[in-house]
Amino acid sequence: MIERWVKQTCENVDYWDWDGMELVIVSCEEISRYTWYDIFDDERMLPEVNITYENNALAFLSGLPDDSVDLVLTDPAYDSLNKWKGTGTTARMGMGRSGSGSDDRSKFFETISDEDLPDLIQEIYRVLKPERHCYIFCDWPTLLLVHRYAIVEGVFPTVKVNGVLTEPLKPLVWNKVAIGMGYTYRSQYEFVAFLWKGKKRKLNDLSVSDVLPFKRVPPSKASVPTQKPDELFELLVRQSTRDGELVVDPFMGSGTTARACSKLNRDWLGCDIDKRHVGFSNDFAHNGDKQLGLF
Ligand SMILES: C[S@@+](CC[C@H](N)C(=O)[O-])C[C@H]1O[C@@H](n2cnc3c(N)ncnc32)[C@H](O)[C@@H]1O
Repeated sequence: MIERWVKQTCENVDYWDWDGMELVIVSCEEISRYTWYDIFDDERMLPEVNITYENNALAFLSGLPDDSVDLVLTDPAYDSLNKWKGTGTTARMGMGRSGSGSDDRSKFFETISDEDLPDLIQEIYRVLKPERHCYIFCDWPTLLLVHRYAIVEGVFPTVKVNGVLTEPLKPLVWNKVAIGMGYTYRSQYEFVAFLWKGKKRKLNDLSVSDVLPFKRVPPSKASVPTQKPDELFELLVRQSTRDGELVVDPFMGSGTTARACSKLNRDWLGCDIDKRHVGFSNDFAHNGDKQLGLF
């Protein structure tokens, strides 16, 4: 069956005769453009909800069915974080409670490369139900990339609102309230790319500003570096979903999305590439805050 699929689908196929048996050869580069689902044409199915799976974000999303998710709320570890890796000044280092100090290089968490961003955006669009929202936390270089891949390249197509073509992206600003480290104007905000699929579903509260002031989680209280405030994620979940709907976060970290959903009676589903991080939201889901001793 795989042989037939390769012959029908791949462009550069070679054949070798191996003791009278025909071997079909295709390069790793070409085959890596496809997923398991392309090859086996399986029915994609939603896995059990309210669980964080250990997986790569792209592989995880590629397993979800089309139009199956009510909100994607995520805070990827993006490439531009790596630029400070050598200096040891980044919040990405293991300075949270589960880390052991800023000199421990092993505490850096994985990032998703800029080259994978187009596929990530494509997959987010595919899994979202029509008229549903997506929030992607990003710094400004990543916001530009999100704009390029999602809007300029048309993955999130423009929509007509009152006869006017509108881009389905609005950058929000998360004001961390506390000032950060730095050698120029000191950092106090992060962007959140707010996107929607098709016609925009109305936000639940239209009085909320596009500047969202929520005090950042101090490293001494964080389970993972760059942990986001629970109240900020709660606001975004409340704005964009209704009771019982499904929220997906493929970069789950400490489980902020899971905690917000659980509090607001939404289902959630996620993954993280780091085994240590996967446990945070699953332990929380099964045991609650107290046993985790987070707060
Ligand atoms: C910025 S943190 C998320 C923090 C989270 N929003 C919170 O409030 O705790 C990014 C997470 O993405 C994970 N990660 C990095 N690369 C990944 C990948 N390719 N697929 C899935 N998870 C990844 C990291 O292990 C880390 O836990």
